[in-house]
Amino acid sequence: MFNNIRKHKENIRNELRTHLFGKQGLRIRRSVDIENVIVQQEQVQSAVRFKDAYVLQEQIGEGAHSVVRKCYKIPKQRSTKSLMPKSIQVFAVKCFRTDDPEIVNTIIQTFNLQRQLHDIPYVCRTYDLFIDQQTKHHYQVIEYCDTPNLEQVYRSLTLRQKQDTIKQLAQIIAQIHARGISHRDLKPENILIQTEPNLQIKLIDFGVSKRFKYRDAFTEMWTATGTILYQAPEVFLGGGYDEKVDIWSIGIILYQLLCSTLPFYAETISETIEQITSPDPQFQYSKEFLKLNPIQRDLIKRLLKLHPHQRLSAEEIPLHPWFEQENYVDVSSDDMILAQDMMIGERTMSNQIGTEITEQQFQNLMDSLEWGRRIHFIQ
Ligand SMILES: Nc1ncnc2c1ncn2[C@@H]1O[C@H](COP(=O)(O)OP(=O)(O)O)[C@@H](O)[C@H]1O
Ligand SMILES: [Mg+2]
Repeated sequence: MFNNIRKHKENIRNELRTHLFGKQGLRIRRSVDIENVIVQQEQVQSAVRFKDAYVLQEQIGEGAHSVVRKCYKIPKQRSTKSLMPKSIQVFAVKCFRTDDPEIVNTIIQTFNLQRQLHDIPYVCRTYDLFIDQQTKHHYQVIEYCDTPNLEQVYRSLTLRQKQDTIKQLAQIIAQIHARGISHRDLKPENILIQTEPNLQIKLIDFGVSKRFKYRDAFTEMWTATGTILYQAPEVFLGGGYDEKVDIWSIGIILYQLLCSTLPFYAETISETIEQITSPDPQFQYSKEFLKLNPIQRDLIKRLLKLHPHQRLSAEEIPLHPWFEQENYVDVSSDDMILAQDMMIGERTMSNQIGTEITEQQFQNLMDSLEWGRRIHFIQ
């Protein structure tokens, strides 16, 4: 099963890569705008080369666009006064190789954008950017995190840890959205996770992020980027998209964490896109999804709404009752008892609709709530 997901992802990634980039290798198609070209020209002035300032170490990861390695900074020459060498600080560095000015431009944009998020502790910090148009090797120096990515560990997380992961993800995304920025490439490989002593996630890879709100004017984002398995339907349907694409991706990640499989995947890109854009998505009839309890299903459905404006906002996600299911045992026979114990304001659900509730009644009831504010669980 897990190998299947990996194989599917790899096949789709390869197919997409050839489709987008042809045989020349990495090539992202996007328009270059004047503002960014100016930024690029200003920044390329730096005369320092990466290899003069840092020493490359072993590879620690690989993504769709870069190879990630450890590195450390070469200490500046010691003056005679300070004989003690400073402790060596380890960094991570994303190594790109391209001569495509559009991609170089994106790398610079990403760097600028990520630096604007430095005060959010759960966003990986970025320190230096080296663009070398002669060698075509470019380096983005970032904070090194000695933690695996979510894809590597999600199968061994407890339900509580999965809840915390999604909650933190929503909270970080809410902060980013509040600044008019969307991530656009949320997927387990782009989330680093520490589980001990407390669960803590960190967002990496803002490679395709985009400012969607600029001086209060919404700029629609047109570029179809990232791994399509996590991409929202509107990305493929045309007509532009906004920050709600991130909410969809959170829905896919939640589905993956709870079902250990993906809601949409097929042998080919076109079939996969067909599934993603279907008004009657088939995942809701799958055995993995039907095994979940109604509250889990409810949250997934609210994130994977075909229409972006019907999806929850990042701020609303942590208010969903699923996050109150502390230490909840994942046994479906307990579902109804739990649902019946759910209190809405002063009244319990069982008072309202008796002992048996159907999926539709549950949905209607959840819909009728003053969303998120008056839902409490009795443990
Ligand atoms: N700062 C970091 N610290 C530790 N590992 C990292 C760091 N950044 C990236 N990685 C590892 O490298 C992989 C690829 O990084 P990513 O930034 O997503 O590259 P790409 O833009 O090419 O997709 C990640 O999934 C993660 O495992
Ligand atoms: Mg990545």
